[in-house]
Amino acid sequence: MKIIIILPTYNEKTNIEKMIPLLEREVFSTIKGHDLHILVVDDKSPDGTADVVKKYREKWKNVHLLSGDKQGLGRAYVRGMKYAMEEMHADAVMEFDADFQHDPHDIPRLISAMDEGADYVIGSRYIKGGAIPKEWAFDRKVKSKLGGLIARYAFFMFRLHDVTSGFKLTKTSFLKRVQLDRLYSYNYAYKLHILHDVVHLGAKVKEVPIVFYERTKGKSKMDTNDMTESLYVVLKLAIYDHKRFVKFLFVGGTGFIVQYSITYLCILLGFAQHFATMIAAETAILSNFTLNNLWTFGDTKHVKEQGGFLRRLIKFNTASLASIGIQGFSTYLAVKFFGEVITIYGYSIHTALAILFPTIIFIVLPLNYFVYNKIIWKTHHLKKYKQQVISE
Ligand code: GDD
Ligand code: MN
Repeated sequence: MKIIIILPTYNEKTNIEKMIPLLEREVFSTIKGHDLHILVVDDKSPDGTADVVKKYREKWKNVHLLSGDKQGLGRAYVRGMKYAMEEMHADAVMEFDADFQHDPHDIPRLISAMDEGADYVIGSRYIKGGAIPKEWAFDRKVKSKLGGLIARYAFFMFRLHDVTSGFKLTKTSFLKRVQLDRLYSYNYAYKLHILHDVVHLGAKVKEVPIVFYERTKGKSKMDTNDMTESLYVVLKLAIYDHKRFVKFLFVGGTGFIVQYSITYLCILLGFAQHFATMIAAETAILSNFTLNNLWTFGDTKHVKEQGGFLRRLIKFNTASLASIGIQGFSTYLAVKFFGEVITIYGYSIHTALAILFPTIIFIVLPLNYFVYNKIIWKTHHLKKYKQQVISE
């Protein structure tokens, strides 16, 4: 394989001076059967990092330099990745810090994992054998762990342990299919977006333990804006992943508004109140069905197992009636156990009202969503991606 190790640099002169010879002399010699290259992506570092690289380029033909303007770490990587894929025809690219926080001696292990079948190898600090600097203050450790935890849960990637690592090896057959010009971030959070997409493309992922060392020379370029941006990127990607559920909630909300307005309208028109309620409920059911059919589940049209329009409409109506039954039953049980009135934090409230929210949130919504997916629109007949994590 042709493997390009991308080293982004900004003011890393003293580090790159040691890094390139070390890679060439100590590391590459231990890796057999691959064509290895170093691509330094430097953003016109004022300290003259590029001059050092140019000097080494004379000595080692597999050293390459790409210079540009400073537009964030993600931009630098995207520039490097595109160059590696389009100009150098790489089979795999590695993301690697130039500041010795990543140990170059770990590179062979990441490559071996790919030799053994992985498409995407993550140098992981949070599995057995991996570590973060013990010098780090408690709050920094917590931030790093917590950030990763949020992203894992938001992405439903419970089987991965380190999603914010900056040490990765990616097959370009997958990277090519990531829309690198449309990332949600071109700073540090770029890596969350690429990871998200590569995993969704069905890449076989393998985590390899790495120790992340404390920086000794130069300064970190990450700041608190990067933290906030990471959260934003995670949220945006999670909404994208769960967009069917978000639409489902939204449609439910519109149903609520429809029901209220139609009730009011019918009363104005002179209907008896109990008729007004029933007409409004059915109108809301119909409008919910239409919106879900066209929008939330619009992509299931070709699923023939779901049956015709009328069939789905009847199922939907039945499910809606069942929800009303469930709410009635849970109120009945609650009244039986707690009495007509419940006291919460000193406030007395009718049991029916107190039980409404938990019933809707914990029973009605999940159940409806399940029924819509499995019984009415049958989304399981759609092609879905599967997370493929290789574990020991
Ligand atoms: N070209 C370029 N442009 N390089 C940059 C830029 C930039 O805007 N910003 C940072 N770099 C280079 C640095 O010179 C260094 O070689 C590498 O990218 C990592 O940057 P650091 O500033 O040292 O990052 P860090 O140590 O704070 O963050 C590391 O840990 C994070 C996880 O805790 C990195 O490995 C991150 O990728 C990782 O997410
Ligand atoms: Mn660093």
